[in-house]
Amino acid sequence: MSRAVRFDRYGPVEVLQVAEVEPPTPAAGEVLVEVVSAGINPGEIAIREGLLHAQWPARFPSGQGSDFAGRVVEVGAGVEGVAVDDEVLGFTDNRASQADLVVAAAGHITGKPDSVGWDQAGALKIAGTTAYAAVRVVAPQLGETVVVSGAAGGVGTLAVQLARRTGANVIGIAGASNSDWLRSIGVEPVTYGDGLAERLRAVAPQGIDAFIDTFGGGYVDLAVEAGVAPDRVETIIDFAAAERLGAQAVGGAEASTAAVLAELAGLLAAGELTVPIAATYPLDKVREAYTELAKRHTRGKIVLRIR
Ligand SMILES: NC(=O)c1ccc[n+]([C@@H]2O[C@H](COP(=O)([O-])OP(=O)(O)OC[C@H]3O[C@@H](n4cnc5c(N)ncnc54)[C@H](OP(=O)(O)O)[C@@H]3O)[C@@H](O)[C@H]2O)c1
Repeated sequence: MSRAVRFDRYGPVEVLQVAEVEPPTPAAGEVLVEVVSAGINPGEIAIREGLLHAQWPARFPSGQGSDFAGRVVEVGAGVEGVAVDDEVLGFTDNRASQADLVVAAAGHITGKPDSVGWDQAGALKIAGTTAYAAVRVVAPQLGETVVVSGAAGGVGTLAVQLARRTGANVIGIAGASNSDWLRSIGVEPVTYGDGLAERLRAVAPQGIDAFIDTFGGGYVDLAVEAGVAPDRVETIIDFAAAERLGAQAVGGAEASTAAVLAELAGLLAAGELTVPIAATYPLDKVREAYTELAKRHTRGKIVLRIR
């Protein structure tokens, strides 16, 4: 038997349990990975609470989790270029990574560079590919000004860094406790709350060229009112505003590939990108991990450390 996070009905964090389950086995084209670390994401809270039932219904008992890093322990038929003991990072679309063992498509993993820590590797997928897609779609140019809301969160911390790499000037909207950290990575911090539009005008008197919203709650409207062309506004959460105003809402799906993960892992290995790890929790503290994430004040990522 092996451990896996399970829930058998929609509900609050208390529905999460760590169950003893039959070890999964890889089919053709799949690998079995012994999970070392698994990132957690706000979308999983919405799914567990039943808020996304119309789009992505759960099948009970449901597992949980997309992101993981670990060691390959079995290789399915027809898989080439992957061997037992390989250290990998990747994802599953089957809500299953928060477990001792996960099965993943061989095309959904990439090698973990030795110099990349397990927690950063296990937290990379959802936040990394979403940030990558967001920066790609607003396409910052050298010397332009890009604003990122939720700049200190899981997606935001990576979006600001990837946007900086384009040569754009990056302004990050976050709470005051994140100002020093944002400055340390070359991002101009602006605090959220009353008077935000005026503060943005003060730090970007030349105007804002592109806007990445990772928080929702009015930032798409604010961006368009500030004069940003709607097709250069990407929101990963406020889909209604995107539709109403003609903004982008590409999300992470189009960048959910092993090639993008490999590129991001390469940047981590080269020290050109970092995933701040706010906290790690053992698997049996999965409820505490999500309780912390639900406060919406994480800097970077929270990770389950399975072993
Ligand atoms: N469409 C997709 O493909 C996709 C993919 C991934 C995530 N998402 C969604 O995107 C959202 C962000 O995900 P995440 O993992 O980055 O979340 P997260 O890590 O929980 O974000 C937390 C951050 O939000 C900041 N924050 C809190 N209140 C804020 C406010 N009023 N204005 C601006 N920032 C504020 C916090 O900064 P302070 O601590 O300074 O307050 C904190 O750094 C979630 O809703 C998630 O479901 C969508």
